[in-house]
Amino acid sequence: MWRLALSSSRSPQSLIVSESDAGAKNLGKPVEDEAVDKNIFKDCSKIAFYRRQKQQLSKKSTYRALLDSVTAGKESTRFQIINEAAKVPLLAEVYGIEGNIFRLKINEETPLKPRYEVPDVLTSKPSTVRLISCSGDTGSLVLANGKGDLKCHITANPFKIDLVSEEDVVMSINSLGQLYFEQLQIPPKQRATKENEEDTSDDTTQENQEELGLWEEKFRNFVDVKDNGPASIGLDFSLHGFEHVYGIPQHAESHQLKNTSDGDAYRLYNLDVYGYKIHDKMGIYGSVPYLLAHKLGRTLGIFWLNASETLVEINTEPAVKYALTQTGPVAAKQKVRSQTDVHWMSESGIIDVFLLTGPTPSDVFKQYSYLTGTQAMPPLFSLGYHQCRWNYEDEHDVKAVDAGFDEHDIPYDVMWLDIEHTEGKRYFTWDKKRFPNPKRMQELLRSKKRKLVVISDPHIKIDPDYLVYAKAKEQGFFVRNHEGGDFEGVCWPGLSSYLDFTSPKVRQWYSSLFAFSVYQGSTDILYIWNDMNEPSVFRGPELTMQKNAIHHGNWEHRELHNIYGFYQQMATAEGLIQRSKGKERPFVLTRSFFAGSQKYGAVWTGDNTAEWSYLKISIPMLLTLSVTGISFCGADVGGFIGNPEAELLVRWYQAGAYQPFFRGHATKDTKRREPWLFGEEHTQLIQEAIRERYTLLPYWYSLFYSAHVASQPVMRPLWVEFPDELETFGVEDEYMLGSALLVHPVTEPKATVVDVFLPGSNEVWYDSKTFSHWKGACTVKIPVALDTIPVFQRGGSVVPIKTTIGRSTGCMTDSPYGLWVALSTKGSAVGEFYLDDGHSFQYLHQKQFLHRKFSFASGVLTNSCADKRGHYPSKCVVEQILVLGLKKHPSSVTSHSPDGKAQPVAFTYCAKTSTLNLEKFSLNIGADWKVQIQ
Ligand code: NOJ
Repeated sequence: MWRLALSSSRSPQSLIVSESDAGAKNLGKPVEDEAVDKNIFKDCSKIAFYRRQKQQLSKKSTYRALLDSVTAGKESTRFQIINEAAKVPLLAEVYGIEGNIFRLKINEETPLKPRYEVPDVLTSKPSTVRLISCSGDTGSLVLANGKGDLKCHITANPFKIDLVSEEDVVMSINSLGQLYFEQLQIPPKQRATKENEEDTSDDTTQENQEELGLWEEKFRNFVDVKDNGPASIGLDFSLHGFEHVYGIPQHAESHQLKNTSDGDAYRLYNLDVYGYKIHDKMGIYGSVPYLLAHKLGRTLGIFWLNASETLVEINTEPAVKYALTQTGPVAAKQKVRSQTDVHWMSESGIIDVFLLTGPTPSDVFKQYSYLTGTQAMPPLFSLGYHQCRWNYEDEHDVKAVDAGFDEHDIPYDVMWLDIEHTEGKRYFTWDKKRFPNPKRMQELLRSKKRKLVVISDPHIKIDPDYLVYAKAKEQGFFVRNHEGGDFEGVCWPGLSSYLDFTSPKVRQWYSSLFAFSVYQGSTDILYIWNDMNEPSVFRGPELTMQKNAIHHGNWEHRELHNIYGFYQQMATAEGLIQRSKGKERPFVLTRSFFAGSQKYGAVWTGDNTAEWSYLKISIPMLLTLSVTGISFCGADVGGFIGNPEAELLVRWYQAGAYQPFFRGHATKDTKRREPWLFGEEHTQLIQEAIRERYTLLPYWYSLFYSAHVASQPVMRPLWVEFPDELETFGVEDEYMLGSALLVHPVTEPKATVVDVFLPGSNEVWYDSKTFSHWKGACTVKIPVALDTIPVFQRGGSVVPIKTTIGRSTGCMTDSPYGLWVALSTKGSAVGEFYLDDGHSFQYLHQKQFLHRKFSFASGVLTNSCADKRGHYPSKCVVEQILVLGLKKHPSSVTSHSPDGKAQPVAFTYCAKTSTLNLEKFSLNIGADWKVQIQ
């Protein structure tokens, strides 16, 4: 389908060879049932700026800070640094930022032309705090924050910065001397003219020129002509005492980052990698250049604000204890501190790095979201189950699938339509034969309080009769090619141009396309999916856009490649808000993302495969996204490529039900796999998994509120909840949902038992189905059948649930609540609950929300207000309370309502499981009340 002929005259700067030259599959997308062809993509050895940095750094020419040049401005402290070899000064600026953050910027003092500084990612200009300079000796400068507990100790020669917290050096910058900064130069040709045709050729041979790739870089049959020449940057960070580092998505890799010393660096370069290989450090769809480090007593973050191609090398030297028996008792047991060195390299831009000093994981999350924003509050429906397929064929198909859910009593919220719903992949249109009456179809979904999501990609079919194309063309809204014409590349519709979302004007116009009057056939239950926005260009280098394509402001694509998709999602979300006149929360799923994408919606992990290993890796992949601010994330349930066997599909539904974004999806040539197509037993198991999701909706929604207002991830690696427990730092086959539930999905075929690690020596954990309990700090063998989803509630928590499940979240608005109260070893528990209308911004503007707090102590469960600013009348009642870990059979249970009325409550107590079940009462969820157990 994508093998459209592309005339080479359209794309002169990148040589396109004929299909027979390189094999069709290497030029377009890989053939569908094949694994990724890695030759299409670069490894580090094929990246010129990587080779240059390696070559130069081996020469060890160091930088020196000219500390007699220090000026203390209102916002930052500035000084020059110079390289002994180049002698051209760089300007360093150190900022203190509110909330224990330091920012270091390094740029050329007088660049030939401005270098790209990433706009639109920081939520606002971060408030600076004045740094007090306590001068060190002549060769150093000490900058302290107001309290004086955090200091930047700058050493002049060789240039280095130590970050000191309470006398402890936690991080050193450039201590390995890897600061690297290529100054912009006049192109050799112009230089020659300027210098009177003087011969500027140095002794660099042709071969060496190619190796260095300064002004031109070849890859396969593509030539990247670089008008600005070499402009790469790099810097090293040594993290003292740290052995555990996380973050820098997106890679199909473990949560804990691995040493790269014996292989490729982690690459941050957004690419469309169909069926990506797992346990690989190649760049896939999105990039967040943000790394977290954790050790006992301290969590740190390094946010490298750069949107060009970036590589990150990690080298961890673990702590070693060794014995020097011959040199006496003192040296007999010497402990060497562990250290992790992180080396960042980017192709262009400036060095702009934020150091988040924690000290706790929660502090680091807040510091990062202070800079880039928090997770958008999702509309409630989007936390339900989503049903997708490439493609649901026509209106009739949609109707049948929708009815299938009702027939099998399986709740779901959203039907999805992929690219074939359009007229020839012209987004914002409908295929009239397949979808003759889109509004009628949406009315059917609306009648069950369900929604529709349709796809809208960034490539626009070149067709003068297609209004979106014609308008964008007329207004010059496309990315331009190196020669100044509109960039043209092949994607689903054939030859296409790509909207330049980096331009505010283009974004504004794109947003306006979602207005109901403009987007024919759309209604207010239609939401959007942005795909292929790395951007994917089938015949482009590494299946993406040429780096010398030109964007708004005359910036080359190379400067901002990684932020292209971020901007599309931003414009789409804005469009959905505008179409509702600012009233309704948007829902936008994006494949490509950058730091800050959390503000605009959800992210998924792209084209995974229906294999057990992909199910397994979805957990660490989502944990990594979660700690880098993107809480609303998920993986295609069932695996996008291939046909899962029934057991794998069931296990995937069970895992997906406990992951934030929960969508079943499958590629074109796969067998149909709606939940009821695998026999009665499997249908029932999938139904149960989805119903568990809906049971826990109040808890999910409350967690998203906490992500939105308090920056805490929804899905949390164990180290985040148990930062003082070394054993948790490397765990990635299980995780916490909020602080109350531990989930250990089954990811092995034919499993009969799973080893579950229950952390915390002071904790007690309850099996959510059998109510068996264990003391923490142990690994337990949990027997599993095909219907088991190992979920454990932490003692000391209260989890709000729904006791009745409806067809969709909208059908459950008035249904009653229940509370799962799991007692701690001290017999107490706390939990929170958040509720609003589930779709509008009234919670924000009118404070129309309910935020309650449940606490259990000395036999009394209390419902009280957690945030007095909020008001939201709800008729809903709590009708069931389950208390786990109650040691003694109560003699009576009484409820005390706000009007002072006391009423006995019926209960059953099970001595074997120490469980108390309260039923047949109704207390308003939003009122102050108490339930007393005696
Ligand atoms: C690639 C996406 O990753 C996939 O989810 C989608 O189905 C296809 N594009 C077709 O739109």
